[in-house]
Amino acid sequence: MRTRVWFFGIGAAGLLVAIAFAASHGPVWASEDKPADYQTWGEDHVGQELPEYTTGTECLFCHRDYVAPRWKSNPHNRTMRFPEPDDPALKALADSTDGKAIVGEVQILLGSKDHVRYLKRLEAYGEAAMSGQLWNGTEKQIRHAQPPGWHQDTFGPQCAGCHATAIDTETISFGSPSLDCYVCHGILELEHANDNTQTLFSPEHADDPRVVISVCGQCHLRGGKSRATGRPYPTLFVPGDNLFRDFDVDWSDDTIARMDMIDKHIFENARAVMVAGSKTTCTSCHSVHGESTKKHQELEQDQSCETCHRPGKEMTDVDLPKNRSSRTCEYP
Ligand code: HEC
Ligand code: HEC
Ligand code: HEC
Ligand code: HEC
Ligand code: HEC
Ligand code: HEC
Repeated sequence: MRTRVWFFGIGAAGLLVAIAFAASHGPVWASEDKPADYQTWGEDHVGQELPEYTTGTECLFCHRDYVAPRWKSNPHNRTMRFPEPDDPALKALADSTDGKAIVGEVQILLGSKDHVRYLKRLEAYGEAAMSGQLWNGTEKQIRHAQPPGWHQDTFGPQCAGCHATAIDTETISFGSPSLDCYVCHGILELEHANDNTQTLFSPEHADDPRVVISVCGQCHLRGGKSRATGRPYPTLFVPGDNLFRDFDVDWSDDTIARMDMIDKHIFENARAVMVAGSKTTCTSCHSVHGESTKKHQELEQDQSCETCHRPGKEMTDVDLPKNRSSRTCEYP
């Protein structure tokens, strides 16, 4: 085992206290905050053992007709991936002054459309170092999110929870790289093959809108913070849980006003469901496996449409942001 001087030196004592507290008393609240209703319903898994989950290879053995062929190219599956030798992000790193020296060590790319980071595995299973360089695919340029060279203590505590699967709270190592079925489908017993009335995301099951927001929001509500660990991703979230017991999210008007259109519609939709009881969720508009938002066009118009569709303009006239930024994901 690698020694984790930084971990045991700084965070461990406080972390263990927080976990022990959370395990015996439910979520950790600052004493002056009185939790809202949306923060207290349901369950969480903070402080518990990492559950066993079925991996995608097993799921896809049976789900080979519709899901399997599409999964290969799904951005959730590809968020951590082995690079093709002619990947433009890899070529650009090789051509850059401070990238030449490390490009040979790169084993995994993180990100996809517009921004990419470079990773290499560490000796311990489920751990990776990340280089400071950042590929901006819109500008076709190498930028720097951190000083160039390898950083061992960034990916685990700051990124892994939303780009890898099943993070061990104490070692901060991941169960599998990239996003497996488990992150959305959770723990699914084999019996589901005969009866899908209890299967989340099955057409035969009426999904609780709060559960859907919790599943998608565990990663897409960027800027939130785990009460148990202080990390920017939730602690041991299992689909079915109430995300907001552990994950503290700021969706005040001021905060949302500063976001681009995409982050804005995500936060507004989450708030509408959790606070105002709306029944429209991410999956009313998005098909994850179909990679489509076609079905959103069938919805009844209301104020939420105006985040993207400006009044007085044609419905086809939507200016989606091109070069997006995120402090959580370290792209400016
Ligand atoms: C032994 C085969 C088998 C395995 C393994 C398996 N499934 Fe299924 N699953 C089925 C069958 C059969 C159904 C019934 C509906 C169908 O034919 O697609 C089903 C239904 C589903 C449904 C609901 C679809 C619907 O039409 O109602 C989901 C979602 C699902 N499975 C996800 C998964 C996930 C995620 C995994 C891995 C954790 C998994 N399955 C593993 C056989 C399997
Ligand atoms: C465990 C984290 C995680 C969960 C859970 C998750 N996502 Fe994502 N999602 C991501 C990441 C990371 C990306 C970006 C991948 C990349 O570009 O590298 C992404 C990308 C997307 C995209 C853009 C993909 C595209 O086609 O360009 C959509 C849309 C999306 N997610 C919707 C959803 C919805 C809806 C849910 C809930 C059913 C969900 N996501 C659950 C992490 C997650
Ligand atoms: C009212 C419908 C609607 C709802 C509700 C909704 N979305 Fe979207 N979302 C869209 C549309 C339409 C787009 C633009 C898709 C496009 O053409 O690129 C979009 C874009 C996105 C993108 C960027 C996709 C990309 O290509 O980069 C992500 C990520 C995303 N949505 C996630 C979510 C999540 C997570 C939720 C739930 C909290 C959600 N959305 C709720 C309609 C919706
Ligand atoms: C990012 C979240 C997410 C991930 C990861 C994910 N799914 Fe799904 N899955 C969904 C959602 C949401 C639906 C509902 C239909 C849709 O959006 O495409 C769904 C639907 C399904 C269905 C039913 C399809 C149908 O006929 O409607 C099956 C089967 C399934 N998923 C299997 C899997 C398997 C196997 C994996 C892993 C290889 C996986 N899913 C990964 C979110 C996810
Ligand atoms: C996140 C941004 C976003 C939100 C929110 C959104 N839309 Fe859209 N919408 C788009 C984009 C982008 C298009 C262009 C085609 C596409 O990608 O679906 C579009 C296209 C459409 C179209 C088809 C226009 C045409 O004639 O081709 C309709 C209808 C529509 N939206 C209705 C709605 C309704 C109703 C709502 C609210 C319930 C809504 N949209 C919310 C982004 C959004
Ligand atoms: C709270 C969850 C969360 C955390 C923590 C997180 N990410 Fe992300 N990341 C996402 C989601 C969700 C997306 C997809 C955003 C979208 O398309 O709207 C994403 C997208 C990305 C992308 C691709 C963006 C693109 O445009 O192609 C990169 C690169 C990235 N993240 C890097 C990082 C790095 C580096 C860290 C750690 C320093 C990190 N992320 C931490 C959730 C997270």
